[in-house]
Amino acid sequence: MALQNITVLGSGTMGAGIAQTAACARFDTTIYDIEDRFLDKAKTGIEKRIARQVEKGRMDGLDAADATNRLRYSSDLAAVVGAADYVIEAVPEKLELKQDIFRSCEEHAPKGCILGTNTSTLMISSIAEALADPGRLIGIHFFNPVPVMKLIEVVMGPDTSNTAYVATLEVAQKMGKETVKVRESPGFTTSRINALIGNEAFRMLEAGVASASDIDKALKLGLNHPMGPFEMVDLVGLDARLNNTRALFEALGDEAYRPSPLLERLVSAGRLGRKNGRGVYRYDDEGQRIPGSDDVTG
Ligand SMILES: NC(=O)c1ccc[n+]([C@@H]2O[C@H](COP(=O)([O-])OP(=O)(O)OC[C@H]3O[C@@H](n4cnc5c(N)ncnc54)[C@H](O)[C@@H]3O)[C@@H](O)[C@H]2O)c1
Repeated sequence: MALQNITVLGSGTMGAGIAQTAACARFDTTIYDIEDRFLDKAKTGIEKRIARQVEKGRMDGLDAADATNRLRYSSDLAAVVGAADYVIEAVPEKLELKQDIFRSCEEHAPKGCILGTNTSTLMISSIAEALADPGRLIGIHFFNPVPVMKLIEVVMGPDTSNTAYVATLEVAQKMGKETVKVRESPGFTTSRINALIGNEAFRMLEAGVASASDIDKALKLGLNHPMGPFEMVDLVGLDARLNNTRALFEALGDEAYRPSPLLERLVSAGRLGRKNGRGVYRYDDEGQRIPGSDDVTG
């Protein structure tokens, strides 16, 4: 039976993007959050982004109306999972929170409903400890911004069933995404490599090997990376990167992941990236990078 009803848990950055992508792929999509004000914010954001697609001629008006009509917003968890074929959880990255929410899913969702988690760092097996049937749980790891980024990492726990895997491929394919299959391990494939490159870039900067903008330029023009490591960390948030790198260092025990002291200092100084206008680079009120602003000492 084809999957039709998707329920997204959490309406933040990722949840809103996932719900938008699901509705545009003609899934009947319900988005859940704990308070109506979060849902209102997500609705406004989704509708604005869909309208922008129409303005730019990237989406037909009828398709936009169809997507908008397929979206439902609710703060009643039992009701939203009650008719779901596939749940995608995108609540904050806290093990107990994810376990609690999946326990409720197991109680209220239909037996065949697959449970997907968008966790970026937690082990599928740890979350699955809360479930009577851990075979239903799988990692479906999206990238930000979800409507734009092509990849989903499909993360298999030791007990994840083939049924959950096949269903996840079906969801991904209908959303127009490519997949890679990953055995659960710290940082999966993308975050593990990205943290390593980012950490080394900070070490090189601290050692005075080159300026931040020249390191970015070198990776873009010499290695064909679409973004430099400092442009990337400013987008992701220096605090989020520091947390990820610390977690990988603890999990893998590899010195290469010991967070660079420069990254630690910048976070302590409140330089968090684009989100507060000052990371490795500085940004003006419109979010434009200020030329020549890559002095990390000041
Ligand atoms: N931001 C990223 O780039 C990114 C990328 C990949 C994966 N992730 C993962 O996705 C998940 C969500 O991240 P995010 O950046 O969207 O976070 P976010 O803080 O933007 O959104 C989280 C949402 O969950 C809601 N929430 C809190 N408690 C809840 C509960 N008990 N039930 C339902 N909703 C609840 C919050 O109100 C908020 O709207 C995390 O596991 C994160 O690691 C994030």
